[in-house]
Amino acid sequence: MSAPSAPSPFRLSQRARSLKPSATVAVSSRALELRRAGVDVISMSVGEPDFDTPPHVKAAAIQAIESGKTKYTAVNGIAELREAISAKFARENGLEYAPDAVTVTSGGKQALFNAFFALLNPGDEVLIPAPYWVSYPEMVALTGAVPIPVPTTPESGFILDPGEVEARVTPRTRMIVLNSPGNPTGAVFPPEVLEAVARMAQRHNLVIVTDEMYEHLVYDAEQVSIGRYAPEHTLTVNGASKAYAMTGWRIGYAGGPKAVIAAMNAFQSQSTSNASSVSQYAALAALTQHEETARFIEMARRAYRERRDRIVEGLNALGLPTPTPQGAFYVMAQTSRLHPDELEAARRLLDEARVAVVPGTDFAAPGQVRLSYATSLEQIGEVLRRIGKMLAD
Ligand SMILES: Cc1ncc(COP(=O)(O)O)c(C=O)c1O
Repeated sequence: MSAPSAPSPFRLSQRARSLKPSATVAVSSRALELRRAGVDVISMSVGEPDFDTPPHVKAAAIQAIESGKTKYTAVNGIAELREAISAKFARENGLEYAPDAVTVTSGGKQALFNAFFALLNPGDEVLIPAPYWVSYPEMVALTGAVPIPVPTTPESGFILDPGEVEARVTPRTRMIVLNSPGNPTGAVFPPEVLEAVARMAQRHNLVIVTDEMYEHLVYDAEQVSIGRYAPEHTLTVNGASKAYAMTGWRIGYAGGPKAVIAAMNAFQSQSTSNASSVSQYAALAALTQHEETARFIEMARRAYRERRDRIVEGLNALGLPTPTPQGAFYVMAQTSRLHPDELEAARRLLDEARVAVVPGTDFAAPGQVRLSYATSLEQIGEVLRRIGKMLAD
């Protein structure tokens, strides 16, 4: 036994200590606390579809279990799934990634994590449009590289200005991370913006990592894959989570240059190995049973669009300016009417209206909160009623 005064041997590593604690934890813990105390809190903070996984996908998983497809697979995924992903990239995105230029991961997150670790060195700079999904700068920083935000504004609907990107290129810049349709903004970058960014990446010899997880959730805009404009510079990340309501199944994938994919596979082989075998067969059904999948996506898209219209109109009418996003299932509301500081605004929404939202603090979105509309129209109506009442009291 060690002496009572000895310091704990469990000293956290520098990497563990470098992970930024989330500013939003305070708000989400308070929401949990209120719920536990029996208060009826409506959560508008979730980042996942509220629909159930479609039946043809579930059936394929059950079939996989019953036929014993429950063993290790190849680290980069079963060949049928990589072929289906390769065909999907060609069919839906106009991208050519051969099956051995594709890898299957445990969620989109792992594809991004592997890609950053395969490509970045300490001191490299990575351009990230802001507001951003919080995991990008955190993952990039874990590699020792430096995230460099590129601001976008609510006035422009958070559309990236390629000039702002290029203005931040230095001799250390290695990569730009794109996410369109985007979390948290819902922005869908138009083809001309993507083409300009692609040309810039070619001029400065940069890697583009494009996260297209929300590609099917677009409303009045056209979703284009940037890889079409600069295939030799682009690594494309996607997955089953948002498109097919499969967040819990943990299937992501990436297509890119074979040497990079091989390096990503090497990281994966020494960490988690293959993604769940059963989930791979489920994703295979989603990617190959086209009619059923298209019907599901259309149903979801129609529902999200109606919800988006309702929530955007309602929040604007309440004096919380909210641009109309063209994709994903999030809106960003400006909350100066509630409080100049978005954390305090989120706290007021929780304590006084019993509505849980995510303050923009961690997304580099000051003065704004994010609401997810992956919830029913009834809930959205109730949320607007509650906020309206809070403002009237
Ligand atoms: C932009 C974006 N990329 C990736 C992911 C992660 O996807 P997965 O659940 O497949 O890891 C999310 C999930 O919230 C996301 O919003």
